[in-house]
Amino acid sequence: MKKFSILLMFVALVTSATAQMTQEEKEAFKFADKLIKKMTLREKFGQLEQFITRRGVVTGPGGVKCDIESAVRKGEVGSFLSIRDRNEALRLQKMAVEESRLGIPLIFGYDIIHGCKIIFPENLAMSCSWNIDAIERSARIAAEESAATAIHWTFSPMCDISVDPRWSRVSEGAGEDPYLGAKIAAAMVRGYQGNDLSATNTIAACIKHFAAYGAAQAGKDYNTVDMSELMFRNLYLPPYRAAVDAGAVTVMSSFNDFMGVPASGSKWLLYDLLRKELGFRGFVVSDWNAVHEMIIHGVAADGKDAAELALKAHLNMDMLGGDYIAYGEQLVKEGRISEKLVNELVREVLAVKYRLGLFEDPYKYGKQDLSEVYYRPENMQFARKVAAESMVLLKNDGVLPLQKGVKIALIGPFADAPKDQLGAWRGLGDEKRSITFRTALEERFGKENVLYTKACECGRYKNGLIEGGVEEAVKIAEQSDVVLLSIGLSGWHSGESRSRADITVPADQQELLDALKKTGKKIVVLLSTGRAMDIRNEVEKADAVLLTWHGGTMAGPAVADLVSGDENPSGHLTMSFPYYVGQIPVHYNSKNTGRPAKSQFKAQGYSASYVDIQNAPLFPFGYGLSYTEFEYSDLKVLTPTVELGGVVKVSVKVTNKGKVAGDDVAQLYVHDVVAETTRPVRELKGFERLSLKAGESKIVEFEIPTSELAYCHTDLSWKADKGDFDVWVGADSYAPLKGKFTIK
Ligand code: BGC
Repeated sequence: MKKFSILLMFVALVTSATAQMTQEEKEAFKFADKLIKKMTLREKFGQLEQFITRRGVVTGPGGVKCDIESAVRKGEVGSFLSIRDRNEALRLQKMAVEESRLGIPLIFGYDIIHGCKIIFPENLAMSCSWNIDAIERSARIAAEESAATAIHWTFSPMCDISVDPRWSRVSEGAGEDPYLGAKIAAAMVRGYQGNDLSATNTIAACIKHFAAYGAAQAGKDYNTVDMSELMFRNLYLPPYRAAVDAGAVTVMSSFNDFMGVPASGSKWLLYDLLRKELGFRGFVVSDWNAVHEMIIHGVAADGKDAAELALKAHLNMDMLGGDYIAYGEQLVKEGRISEKLVNELVREVLAVKYRLGLFEDPYKYGKQDLSEVYYRPENMQFARKVAAESMVLLKNDGVLPLQKGVKIALIGPFADAPKDQLGAWRGLGDEKRSITFRTALEERFGKENVLYTKACECGRYKNGLIEGGVEEAVKIAEQSDVVLLSIGLSGWHSGESRSRADITVPADQQELLDALKKTGKKIVVLLSTGRAMDIRNEVEKADAVLLTWHGGTMAGPAVADLVSGDENPSGHLTMSFPYYVGQIPVHYNSKNTGRPAKSQFKAQGYSASYVDIQNAPLFPFGYGLSYTEFEYSDLKVLTPTVELGGVVKVSVKVTNKGKVAGDDVAQLYVHDVVAETTRPVRELKGFERLSLKAGESKIVEFEIPTSELAYCHTDLSWKADKGDFDVWVGADSYAPLKGKFTIK
């Protein structure tokens, strides 16, 4: 890594305009430095330790068991995670502030990743809205509800790019594209933190999982990550970088080893890259027990060794492992780490607490009337809109929207599943507040017009067809005009540690589909999932497929809005849906190779392709249908040649050719024709959500600074090339409308 470090310093000089330290930050560090002078070494390590409470006992998988109260009173805990109850948080805070020697307040962290009380669609789903302002607002609502609960800090945004839907944590991210991922990461940081971290409606954000956690080999959670540094910098780093630039005050180190070193012990990642190059000045927390797990990774002999590695890598806070508090003092006394380093790590933690206003008033986040903050009606309506914008219409032969007065057979494990619709990491979401598809459809179409049966179980504990379920499903289908079949994967199948090798719809649910197909009724599949799936079978057999994801508290009303035609589907995929699992990784921004396939849609040999299936995914990145039809025409490159450092301008005409109003996402892609390194066949470099009335046209103008066309060269410099570029604009990553420009 030494070689990298030297190069990094060079890169840092040429690429990173590290933001100047603000007055507020300077003040926070000044305060921290003064306080550190009064602290004992043990108290310092206390600030670097994070614990969880479970029935009165502090535990971590690292084996630390101690009495919470005495640990807090002795100043040996800096933070707690996952405290769900405000009274418990305030009780612990009071203990820390009033009973420990220096009265340093605790910081409480929790995974509030797509909503706190009101649960928004899972993050991958929300990214399909391409609505950056809405995503920012969803984060602000989550912050308001968290802050009122005395949760000062969220472990979000997850900035991990992933091209592997076998990995269940794709549900927590923004999909496969670094450009869109960066915009979303920055928006979420702005949403959580606002302009004033000390305000009682903002909380600290945490960029995770640093780094490249989403590239786990074979899609297995926690698995090894290895790739070239060029690939890392081009495809994986941009969202983390954008979140740092947006001012996120904390970062989480990932579980995985990266280029041979576990991230939590990688000085190259956590210090050279994150701090020196990206200019991060907040604090780094490890992932759950990740410091201690370096023993199992095989780079540390014991907990003491692991603590030494992590401290030297500049990892500030140990989540749950307990090795910092257990061995920190000894490490200093034995000269294995310096107290100067400990002071630096502590000051960064204290500075964030200071910026949150916790020293000024440690109870400030627990004062609001919760009934006024939780589940505000306007926020619930907003969640409904976001859910509708996140859902993606994948197929429609005309059955949607449903006619008024139609009789519906609503069938499947997720049609009335208040918990599943909240997905993974449900924050403090209350499933009793979920409005299910069944409730919302009964309200919209009349109870007498919606016949319901579950027919099949799918989840953590129960799976398979319910006895008599298929017969009942067929019976109600025969009594109805249309079948809405809610199938796919449950909320439990999303999030951490649910990797799957088979990403098709479970076989029993396919059996149900087959039985219903025989009735000859029109079938609309409502696909529940937190990941991209292989749904060839469902697409072939159903008349329409609406990807409903795990749509959150208001998923039901959103589905009713869409199937009734009150809202027009406008979501576009941010992760390719594979044609077959064996294609993975399949993503739109792949390379050409010297022998590209002649057709993406035919099996063939002697090229980068398969002899048994097509190259193209079933649905590409950017794809999504509407009840109307949008036409893209008149692509104009307004700046056919542009100076390096200038701005490329492209315009396109978009026309709504259908009979109803609708929203579309116009997407701009480029390709660097002759570059220093091989470049993706297409890269997203601009997008705009637009609303068009029936028959209306609009000219969309894109402005792309040439700096956005920069990439990592073999000497690790970040710059754009002079020369020719292709450009396409359209409604997905296969957009045919093409132009050219040249950078001089
Ligand atoms: C996850 C993190 C999460 C942490 C705290 C870990 O298992 O990987 O994403 O923030 O737990 O709950």
